[in-house]
Amino acid sequence: MTQYYTWHHLLCTNLFLPCTVPDFAKIKAWPSCEINGMILVWYHCDGIDPVWAVPEQEEITSKEWVYRGHTEHFVNAHIQEIPENAADFAHLTFLHEPVFMSGVDLRYTHSKLWESVKHCWKGEWQPEPEPNKHCSQLVVKHSLTVFGKHFSLMDFAVRARQVGPGLVYLTFEHAFLGRGIILQSVTPVEPLLQHVVHRIYYQRSMPAVIPKFILKVECIQFERDIMIWNNKQYLSKPLLVKEDSAILRHRRWFAQFYSENSTRFTFQKGGLDW
Ligand SMILES: [Fe+2]
Repeated sequence: MTQYYTWHHLLCTNLFLPCTVPDFAKIKAWPSCEINGMILVWYHCDGIDPVWAVPEQEEITSKEWVYRGHTEHFVNAHIQEIPENAADFAHLTFLHEPVFMSGVDLRYTHSKLWESVKHCWKGEWQPEPEPNKHCSQLVVKHSLTVFGKHFSLMDFAVRARQVGPGLVYLTFEHAFLGRGIILQSVTPVEPLLQHVVHRIYYQRSMPAVIPKFILKVECIQFERDIMIWNNKQYLSKPLLVKEDSAILRHRRWFAQFYSENSTRFTFQKGGLDW
């Protein structure tokens, strides 16, 4: 697996040694970079140096967009499951159509109380060509309907750019609410346990309540996915219809992040045919 990890999960050892350093007192140097308010460490199971760089979001560096908060989640799933969500369009309607007020528990999100307000998502997922073949993009158009009528004030575009297996740049653009970004980082902390952090940066000129609200809504939608990830089973050959073809394309795209020596989990195999 090749991956940039966010720094806060790693043990940082600062050695200030006054004189002769014995041979055994050495630590491995990890390729790292500081960018977009994060310190990232490169990991490759074969010890190969970074083969791509993390793109800079200029508005963060120039402080045109400022930090407005973050969320943290733990997900019981393989790292591949989280980005695969972007290619699974069918789930958008079932999971993310109910308005955010109906909460995160999928047993109750399709309640009568909120059925008059619905999110509508239209998305397309594509891998990027060389030299950015480690990136892919999901472009989503969001709209809101109230009693079946289009409420155009809530129209906005979201672009989710996946950079490698564990980073997503989620950029928003809205006619009145301005522009900003949510940076998602996914860090494996145990086999099948992921630490997911979302950090939001937003136009300095906009009141902080706007990005805080956006982060809250995003967090509600993300927690609906977590309920699935925590309970789903990975099938290497799932039964897919034509409309699901992006899932197989995504799996082919994600395969580039494995090498022969990547850890393989065999204990997750099994079926529901018991
Ligand atoms: Fe989702």
